[in-house]
Formats: sequence, structure tokens, C-alpha cells
Amino acid sequence: MKHAEQINVLKALINQIDTKTTCDAGRVLINPTSAYTDKDLAEQEWKTFFDGHAQVIGLTGELPKPGSYITNNDLGMPILATRDKNGKFHAFVNACRHRGAQLTDEPRGEKNRFTCPFHAWTYAPDGRLMGIRHGEMFGDVDKACHSLIELPSQEKYGFLVVHPQVDGSVDIDALLGEKLVDELASWEFDKCEFQGESSIEKDLNWKLANDTFGENYHFSTLHSETLINLAHSDYATYDEYGRNHRICTASRYLDVMRTQPEADWNFAFGSIAAYYLFPNVQLVFLGGMVVLVRIYPDRNVVGRSISRISHFTMPHVKEQIGEAEHAVTVDADNIYSADTSARMEFDVSGTIELLVSTVEHEDYLMSEKAQVTAAGGKLEYFLFGRNEPALHHFHNNYREALGQPPLKEYRAA
Ligand code: FES
Ligand SMILES: [Fe+2]
Repeated sequence: MKHAEQINVLKALINQIDTKTTCDAGRVLINPTSAYTDKDLAEQEWKTFFDGHAQVIGLTGELPKPGSYITNNDLGMPILATRDKNGKFHAFVNACRHRGAQLTDEPRGEKNRFTCPFHAWTYAPDGRLMGIRHGEMFGDVDKACHSLIELPSQEKYGFLVVHPQVDGSVDIDALLGEKLVDELASWEFDKCEFQGESSIEKDLNWKLANDTFGENYHFSTLHSETLINLAHSDYATYDEYGRNHRICTASRYLDVMRTQPEADWNFAFGSIAAYYLFPNVQLVFLGGMVVLVRIYPDRNVVGRSISRISHFTMPHVKEQIGEAEHAVTVDADNIYSADTSARMEFDVSGTIELLVSTVEHEDYLMSEKAQVTAAGGKLEYFLFGRNEPALHHFHNNYREALGQPPLKEYRAA
């Protein structure tokens, strides 16, 4: 993000705080509750957005060196993603060409050679079949024709993207769109270092899980003892980039930053930016850390989903921060604290713990209750307020992709 744009967003947030305003979609929309419960719709979504759409499965830092691998079992078929000895990213169907066993069921690791646990055929990280145990029993089997089945993949701007169909294609530039490409490239996500992953499996439709990232209207109520220490409630800038969007929330540290010279302002600490990447990714960027949230439907249960939440440090952003000195005067419970040299320190492990726990025990807990009421059939619709433009966008996006008309505007009778 260009520095001028960072300052614009921070100033817009400060102005909202001072004038008690926020982003405004200009209208209220009606979302039928069947969006979260309809089985036919869920099947259509699966085919269009998951089985038939390129998927961000991680960031570059999850495959830090040749031989690194990650697996993904959320797309209806096991995927093994690797970095080969030349550093190239690959994605394969995680299935041995002998009789289909999965080569590994570990979520991530390092291997220079994958040995099938069933009968020990071996494969290189670039997918080549290297060895057939008792090969004479297979006579003329052509090894070159029995490499792992490769899926279309691309690595760019720090994103690892795979298409679940062998004949699909991946174009990260097209997925992000020109304007967002520039902005995301500027954060240099390829330099992020993987720190850990959590999974939350809950009884809520995957879109309800996405909805929770689409507004901060609820921070002061639902998160009155947790996230409210990290961020202001209600104030938010909102920008669309084709099917993607960005919401920036004012961090508590902005209250300190605004008293400093503008040249010292740092967006990474003054704002919490949440990028939504179509169809199922939330990328939360705060304080020298990036959190990648991938939300997958349960193929068999409309009202169930799993969220994979991985987090990464951004050493390049931290270094930059280390040079700026700030007098920090926030309360002791705040995530931000001052060290003796009055430099801002950011507690990565404390913050991710707070975020994951809040999402699981506050956001998703609340959304599970909404799932029950939606399934109960008495509520015909939910309302998306003027202050919830990201929800308007997310839902109209997927409706458009499925050939459905946009959501209707609410008008009082
Ligand atoms: S299934 Fe892999 S070696 Fe037999
Ligand atoms: Fe929340």
C-alpha cells in the first residue's frame, strides 16, 4: 500500500473517531436466511467456489525451503503441496499411483523423498515416481507415466494458489485484480514467516463464518472484554476491488500514533486491515503480523464449516517499526506496551491467542446460534445495515457468481 494511501486511511479513521461516523453503504439489504441452510445452494456453492475455483491454500512462508510440504484435505480430495529442489512450488493429488494411498497425512513437514506408507513406492517433491519396491513385479510399468497427478498451481506475491481440477487454471493477478495486486505486493507477504495454525470446526454455514469478518459493529458488544482492547468498535473504512474488498479498523494504538508526527505513522500498527479474497479467504494484517483465514464448508452438512487460521510474522515490517520511537500510554491490559526505550512492542503470540479464542468463543459461538435460528425457519431474512457494506458485497458477489439476482433493498412498509 502506498504511503499516501496508508495516511489517507489513518486520517479517515481519525476523522471517524472524532465525528463518530463510519463507512456507509447507503442502504439496508435483506438476506434470506435460506442462504445459510439451503442444501441445493450449498451444492452449487461447492461446485462453483471450491471444486471449480482456484484456492489460496497458504502463504509462501509455509514452504520455507526445498523439500517443505503442506497438505490440504478441505477441498474434497487430498492435496499435497511441495517445494521442489529448485524452489518451485507444486500441488499434487495426494495419492500414490500404485493403489491410491495418501503419501502423508501430516499437515506440514519436510521430505526430500515421499515414501508411500502402503508398499513404499517413492516420489520426489517434484512429483516424479522414483522407485517401485520389487519393481520386477510390475514389469514394464513406465515410471515417467506414473508421476503424482499435478494440479494447476501458481505462487506469486506470497500466495500459494491451487486449482482443484487438473484442467483448471490459476491466474493470481486476475484473482486479485490490478489495484489490489499493487497493494498486496507492497506488503511483501513472500517474506512472512509461518508461526502456526489453528482450526475451528463449528456448526455454522461457511458464509456465516465469513460474515463475522465483515463488520466491526459488534466489537464493543460481543468483544467487550477481548478485542475491544485491541481495536475501536464501529469505525471502519471500506473499499472494493472487484470481487475482493478491504476493511480497515482503527487500532487502539491509533490514539497514540495520531499525537506523533505524521512522518512516523505506521499503518501496520494504526489500523487492522482485513482483506477479503474471493471466495473464502480473510487476510488480516496487523502490527507486523498477518493472519490467513481459509473458511471451508462441510460438504455433507450445510450448517457446518471449518476455518483454518494460520499466522505469520513479518520481520520486514517489524524492522521498520523498530526504527520509530513512540511514547506509549495505553493501559496495562492492552496488547500494545512500551519497553524501556519507549519503542512499541507487539506481542505476536498473545495477539494470535486472543484472536483465535475470540473468533471461536465469541464470534462463532454467536454465529452458531444464528445458524440455529436460520434453520428454525421462522426468520425469513437477516438485515445487513448501512454500516455493513462488506456483507452486502460478499453476499452479492457470490449471488452474482451463481447467476442469482442481487439482494433486495429493505424498505419500511
Ligand atoms: S499404494 Fe502406494 S505403494 Fe502401494
Ligand atoms: Fe468479531
